[in-house]
Order: sequence, then C-alpha cells, then structure tokens
Amino acid sequence: MEAFFTYLLPFAVLSVILSLLFLNRKRNSSGLNLPPGSSGWPMVGENMEFVLQGPQKFVYERMNKYSPEVFQTCLLGEKLAVFCGAPGNKFLFMNDSKLLTSWWPQSMKKALLFPEYADNSVKEVGALQRSFLHEILKPEALKQYIPLMDAMAREHVETEWAPCEEVKVFPLSKKYTFALACKLFMSVEDPDHVKRLADPFTLVTSGMFSVPIDLPGTAYNRAIKGGKMVREELLKIIRARRNELMESKETSDRDLLSRMLLITDEQGQFMNEMEISNNIIGLLVASYETTSTAVTFVLKYLAELPHIYSEVYKEQMEIAKSKGPDELLTWEDIQKMKYSWNVACEALRLSPPAQGAFREAITDFTYA
Ligand SMILES: *[C@@H]1O[C@H](CO)[C@@H](O)[C@H](O)[C@H]1NC(C)=O
Repeated sequence: MEAFFTYLLPFAVLSVILSLLFLNRKRNSSGLNLPPGSSGWPMVGENMEFVLQGPQKFVYERMNKYSPEVFQTCLLGEKLAVFCGAPGNKFLFMNDSKLLTSWWPQSMKKALLFPEYADNSVKEVGALQRSFLHEILKPEALKQYIPLMDAMAREHVETEWAPCEEVKVFPLSKKYTFALACKLFMSVEDPDHVKRLADPFTLVTSGMFSVPIDLPGTAYNRAIKGGKMVREELLKIIRARRNELMESKETSDRDLLSRMLLITDEQGQFMNEMEISNNIIGLLVASYETTSTAVTFVLKYLAELPHIYSEVYKEQMEIAKSKGPDELLTWEDIQKMKYSWNVACEALRLSPPAQGAFREAITDFTYA
C-alpha cells in the first residue's frame, strides 16, 4: 500500500514541486534545531491558509519566507516539517525505511479506516506488500487487465463523451477511474452499486484534508460520515464474497478481493473483513484522484498542443488499423505506444498528480 502514502492532495492543481511532509516525533523538545516556520493557530494550525491558498501557493510562500529546503507547519492537527523541491525528495526517497517510515495523519485514518485495525494496517503494510499486494499490483500482473480497461474505456467514451457537444474532463475521468477500480478490485459493475460507493467516497476525499474538527456541518464531519458509509458498503461486498467462496470452495483469484480473502500471512492467518476493507480503501484512495488527475492533464496538454496531438493520433490510429474493430488492446499494443507514453510521462512531469506524501521519522537526523 505504498501508493496510499504517496498520495496526498485531492486537488487538480498544477504543481511543479513535490513536497514531502514528515512528522517531527519529538515535538517541541527543547534544544532541538527544528526547521524554521510557524505552527499557526491553536487547533487549526495553518490549515485555513492551506485550503484558501491552495497547496502550491502555500508551499511556495513558505519556501520564500523561511527556507527553500524545509519548513515546519501544522496541518490536519499534526506538526509537520515540509521537505521541498528535488533535493528534499531525493533525501527522503534515498533514506526511506532507514530514517523514515510510512505514516499518515490521525485525522485521515479516522475518516477512512476501521479504527480497530487502522494502526495495524499501517504496520502490516510491509508484510502485505511482500506477500501479495505487490504481486497483484506489479506491472506483469497489471498487463492482464488491459483488455478490460480498454473495454470499459470504449463503453465510457460511447456513453459519456460521444453524445455531448462539450464535456468536463475531470469529473468524467474520475467516474471512469472509480468504476474501473470497483471492477478490478471487487468485480462490482452495476452502475448503481458503483455510485453507492462513489458518492460517500467523494465526501471522504473532499473532506479528508480539511481542518479535522468533527462538528455538524464541517467538511471533516461529512468525510467521517462518508467513510462510515463506504466501510459499511465494503463490508457487505466482502461478506457476500466470502460466502460465495465458501460455498463454491473455489480457490480462484478472480480479483483483488478474492485474493485478499484467500491469502494468509506468515503465521497462516487470514485477514479479517475490516483489514480487507482498510486495504481496499487504501487502494481506492491511492488510485482514484491521482489517476484521474493524470488523465485530465494529458488531455489538457493534447488540447493545447495540436502538433503533439496529431502525433499521438497518428500512433493510435496505426495500432487501431492493425486490429479488428472489436479486438481489444493488449499489452503488446501498449508497448507500441512509445510516443503516447512519452507524452503521458511529460504530462506527469509537468503536473505531478500527487504533490506529496507523509513519512514519520524513525530516528533523529539532520537535514539542510
Ligand atoms: C541520507 O541520510 C544521511 C544521514 O542523514 C545523509 O548523510 C545522506 O546524505 C542522505 N542521503 C541522501 C541521498 O540525501
């Protein structure tokens, strides 16, 4: 679930820096040389400024004011140090698991996860990654999903895009991405069922980064409620599948959910329903807005740069011509999309869809 932690901001804003937030464990210990910065107001910290300015302006302003390398702040009810720019990222990634470990704010955990297993799943993530999540999500495993992705993309374009004079890309790409995740993770296809998950999930993602004050009317309060609805719906799906698996005694791995139900850890223990739910939510959070933001930016650049568009079009049409009208894309076809892939990579470089991630220090260290 590494991907979960690399996801930070659900905003489709242009970002040129990737900042990483990291919790200073020994908060306020005197005598420590902490980064410059302000922790803002009591309770809300600098959350208001963050929301009003947007992440990009918020970070740039503080980089100018305090230090271009690292500054401290208080967001989501937590004291954080923000590592900025390429050198900050290099330091954190090169030292990941040596000096730092995956972490996320209490307020996010509370909105998203079953509290009984919220801390568990963070620790178990390492084991899970080794054992099977990694297997399921590595590129070789993803190859087999390509025809399905293509089929769903075709249907989506036919029903949502083709009939319209004008479309808004971001909401539609979110709709597609979420439907795809439901299908790949849990084989949930019925549009009403997808919507029953998507609506409360949107409440969670839009309130997850607000000031974590759980009072009626706050965005955080809606996020908490949405999270509860998502978990209830997921539990129903997980239980139904467990019953199916028990009845048919099948050991098939038709999707991520079946695999999660069938997999055991080093001690031969199965994951329980709440742990599975937490893991699925983690994957949904990681995949949902990042993917749809990336798709949106690729299309934005294609719309703005006709000479790039025409090259992508040419490449795509050549592949299309080599196939029958109903023949779905395969991994081999994707490998032929060299120019298109470069365009996607460049769009990711220019507008990174995830603008940061959280880490916790496991030891004291000095930076900058
Ligand atoms: C990793 O951390 C060590 C110790 O703080 C530091 O000396 C080193 O430069 C870091 N690595 C990178 C690539 O920044």
